[in-house]
Amino acid sequence: MADINSFTENSQIFVPSENFVSKANLNPNTYATLCKKANDDYLGFWGDLAKTYINWHRIFTQILDDSKKPFYKWFVDGSLNVSYNCLDRHLKTIPDKVAIIFEADDGASESVTYRELHKQVCKFANGLKSLGVKNGDRVIIYMPNSIEAIVAMQSCARIGAIHSVVFAGFSAHSLADRIIDARAQYLVTVDGFKRGGKVLAIKQDVDAAITILGTDSPIKNIIIQKVLDVACKIVPKFDVWWHDLVLNQSDICEPEWVLSSHPLFILYTSGSTGKPKGVEHSSAGYLLGAIITMLWVFDYKDSDCFWCTADVGWITGHTYVCYGPLALGATQVIFSGTPLYPDASSFWRIIQRHRVSVFYTAPTAIRSLIKAGGDLPLKFDLSSLRLLGSVGEPINPEAWKWYYTLVGKEHCPIVDTWWQTETGCHMLAPIPGVSGLKPGSCCAPLPGICAGIIDENGHNVGLGGSGYLVIKKPFPMQLRTIWGDNERYKTAYYPEEISGSKHYYVAGDSAHLDSDGYFWILGRIDDVLNVSGHRIGTAEIESALVSHKAVAEAAVVGKFHEIKGESLFAFVVCKNGFFPAKENLENLKEELCTWVATQIGAIAKPDDIRFVEGLPKTRSGKIMRRILRNIANGHQITQDISTLENPAIIELLKTDI
Ligand code: PRX
Repeated sequence: MADINSFTENSQIFVPSENFVSKANLNPNTYATLCKKANDDYLGFWGDLAKTYINWHRIFTQILDDSKKPFYKWFVDGSLNVSYNCLDRHLKTIPDKVAIIFEADDGASESVTYRELHKQVCKFANGLKSLGVKNGDRVIIYMPNSIEAIVAMQSCARIGAIHSVVFAGFSAHSLADRIIDARAQYLVTVDGFKRGGKVLAIKQDVDAAITILGTDSPIKNIIIQKVLDVACKIVPKFDVWWHDLVLNQSDICEPEWVLSSHPLFILYTSGSTGKPKGVEHSSAGYLLGAIITMLWVFDYKDSDCFWCTADVGWITGHTYVCYGPLALGATQVIFSGTPLYPDASSFWRIIQRHRVSVFYTAPTAIRSLIKAGGDLPLKFDLSSLRLLGSVGEPINPEAWKWYYTLVGKEHCPIVDTWWQTETGCHMLAPIPGVSGLKPGSCCAPLPGICAGIIDENGHNVGLGGSGYLVIKKPFPMQLRTIWGDNERYKTAYYPEEISGSKHYYVAGDSAHLDSDGYFWILGRIDDVLNVSGHRIGTAEIESALVSHKAVAEAAVVGKFHEIKGESLFAFVVCKNGFFPAKENLENLKEELCTWVATQIGAIAKPDDIRFVEGLPKTRSGKIMRRILRNIANGHQITQDISTLENPAIIELLKTDI
């Protein structure tokens, strides 16, 4: 704790300029009014915001139903359509405003206006209906960033179908698991696409997933957008080309009005068991969160060109690519490439080309750009930028300062946004016209978000303390449940031992409150790692490793990594007869990495594998992960090892057997 205190207390504070404050959506006065309202009349605060920012088909009369804690329903009897709120409501005011500028991997660019996007969505939605897709059906979307991926998501929302986007880098096995868990009947994909100059023919992975599922597959149709014209297997009537599906469809599709709590989407994320959790989001509360954070945290203005670099496969790509910007009628850039291809200037080139004004990316991308070309931003005209954002993991102060100085030229506030798949939108973040910024701190909870840090007895830690990050009151944008698993929802987010009888939402992160009241996220309290800003459960990788014929046992821990934040270090015990000879060690490591990539996806490949004779366990059989973490990071073992069943194992863990 001494370390964290000296680090946070000595931090410099960057205050917003007068010029920024004078134009900001929230200034100290309006911010104080919002906070007071949230404090004095919590439900009225949320009810008023929902009335102001959402176009309702039927206005709600009850703001919150908390009779079945922790299963909350917000804006209970209201009905709306999210796609109507993202498209139709702009048709009278800004039909010809550009909605999306798409930048492909090879630098090719195309754009659509709100009027065109609305037509495309209506046609595709009608196409889905012609296949039999109806309100409540689940549709998997396995596509890279593209205008069509957004069309597919918005089309589902339009007809009340529930989409579940699966990141196009996940393997056939992961896709199959999600299809089964969601009981999805339809799947939308592409023949293939290019990322970082490489061709990824993902229809093959879809076919492999269907083969894995065999007769258990619930999928009735696959819709394929032809992107690359790569060879792909087409089963008549089962596989349908996107262009054929929309060919004769009307460009008018009446929105399906759904209740506020109707599930808008399911998005899978890693938890502390081997099985990913299907986070289920509502329609109204989620939409409201996307809108208010665009306004408060990104200080969104009609004149902005907004760019969030996230992929639609993650929550950031849902909230700040598909829903938030469109709900506000923004012009936004989307990109299907990578920061380092064809070289480390692709981000700066795109900002210059489209005069991007609000730019949102992840610390891992920033670190890789610093490494690959720290002075490249100087070669481009980035003068259009006025605000920068960061998400996914704590941003280290060095990266923050580079971002602030070289990219933002010391006049763009950086909003370090803390949130999660489950919270749907920013929870803790600076308000750029109000907050003084401390590099590495996500500042404070947003108005109406009752976040706190508590100790193991449930008491607030107070200034200078550290503990569990919790949200003390239900909030409209939180997940509704875990798809098909209400029990897991309760135990994962409202665990008795921390939440107690107070019904606090437990985020799974630990945090520190400094003497100025700033929040600093310290990391996860469970066995979930954060690799390049993506959550990966160690249990998932362990179960993938153990399903290989050579592996008896495995334990995966995080190791500090300069670019990714954390990398994956796997300790593997082989089955008898499978321990490789010295000369075959590397081959088996390679084979296991490929195996994990096929079971989960390339993002889950271990960076290090060490073959060991056994794992350090307590007498009750629990793996002592702290020891493994220290060894992986080359640290001394200082902790008490008296509960260890086999203390002699420690020396043996330091090298391959
Ligand atoms: O540990 C926190 C970290 O990412 C987790 C959420 O991951 P995911 O659901 O994949 O969503 C990522 C994008 C919102 C959190 O529990 N995290 C996210 N943002 C930050 C962060 N840690 C520190 N600072 C942040 N700004």
